[in-house]
Amino acid sequence: MRFKALGDFQTPLELAKQIVQCIMAHEHHWTRALEPTCGKGNFIQALLQAPIPPQEIIGVEYQLRYVQQARQLIRTQPDQRSSIQIIHADVFSVDWQHDITWKTCGPLLIVGNPPWVTNAALGTLNAANHPQKTNPKNLQGLAAITGDANFDLAESIIWQLIQAFQKDEPTLAFICKTSVARNILQQAAKTHIPIQTARLYHIDAKRWFNAAVDACLFVMELRQGAANYQAQVFDRLDAPNHQHTIAYTNGHLIADVQSYQQWAFIDGTSSLSWRSGLKHDAATIMELTDKNGSWYNRLGERVDVEPAYVYPLVKGSDIQRLFLGKTPHKRAVIVPQKRLGEDTTHLAHTAPKLWAYLNEHAAHFKKENRPYIATNRPSPFSVSAIIPFHPIKSRCQGFIKTHDSSSYVHTKSGQFC
Ligand SMILES: C[S@@+](CC[C@H](N)C(=O)[O-])C[C@H]1O[C@@H](n2cnc3c(N)ncnc32)[C@H](O)[C@@H]1O
Repeated sequence: MRFKALGDFQTPLELAKQIVQCIMAHEHHWTRALEPTCGKGNFIQALLQAPIPPQEIIGVEYQLRYVQQARQLIRTQPDQRSSIQIIHADVFSVDWQHDITWKTCGPLLIVGNPPWVTNAALGTLNAANHPQKTNPKNLQGLAAITGDANFDLAESIIWQLIQAFQKDEPTLAFICKTSVARNILQQAAKTHIPIQTARLYHIDAKRWFNAAVDACLFVMELRQGAANYQAQVFDRLDAPNHQHTIAYTNGHLIADVQSYQQWAFIDGTSSLSWRSGLKHDAATIMELTDKNGSWYNRLGERVDVEPAYVYPLVKGSDIQRLFLGKTPHKRAVIVPQKRLGEDTTHLAHTAPKLWAYLNEHAAHFKKENRPYIATNRPSPFSVSAIIPFHPIKSRCQGFIKTHDSSSYVHTKSGQFC
């Protein structure tokens, strides 16, 4: 198998030592240690140099040259008290209960740096370094058949070890992508893996591995009966205090629990539903901002049209302002139609002020609303897309406009009005 397919980034001994020091600062010592993809054995060496080394260490590695290097390294250790086995095997074909024989029992540490490669990358390399296709994340449809393209090999190895060893109540400590750590935490919460504590330490992957990856040391302690799905996040291995806490709560992963608690009241099931409903092109004249109780368009003109055609609008940037503690802008959007292709000429009688306004600015429609011209829509001043909704029952509560210029309609019954 080629280097890339093996996700081969050997951990420098210095970093392995810092990691061992970091995890040992939090925990009692372990009598057993497992390095599931041990490479040339730097983690094993770091463990052997710890103040109280484990009595027994097992390493597994696929590449024979690393197996030989790791075995050689052990022979040259001055302190020969620990029992060490280096097993030449493919981690995906190891049966952890039967293929591995521990000589001792006691607290178990599983530590290492599993391969840095995704399923998708293996696909392009035409390499088979992956588990037999399983569906641990309960993926749907195509993703379930092919395996999730973004599924990281490290993620599947860590997940396999959690499942194989959870009864041993191990401590797991892995270098991995931060996204992998988050996925594992989320998946553990969904499947009730008994995590007692979890910590995530940022690692400078550029410095240690010359890799532009958001990497971390992810530490989990599993204990029967525990169910803690929060992870403290530290900005470096020797940071005395954590910066913030990530957590799986209310069915999703929260990036910062403290900030979330401040805004938790807007999370959850809303009695109002937001629906994708409108695509608007002539934003210059159709989107309005409130100034001292009057509406203004982007040309800076005051707009006075029939209110029945003016709907509340919320943009992503307004939500962001809200989160930053700033007052969001009060906005509105003119919606001249209830369905795509609806004739707007009746506005001349039903909404004469709006009709006059739209006609005065017709040039903007012609310039900005290219789909209108291209599709030769029957009616002037059409919006370029309205997602069809069920029969009209309720008043709109607002629109939310996204960066891709599609908008979302918010109605009481989830229906467009
Ligand atoms: C990121 S490197 C880390 C090596 C070592 N854990 C360290 O920290 O220095 C990943 C290691 O996983 C090994 N590896 C990749 N696929 C493997 C497999 N299927 N079974 C066992 N080892 C594998 C690679 O050969 C490589 O040594």
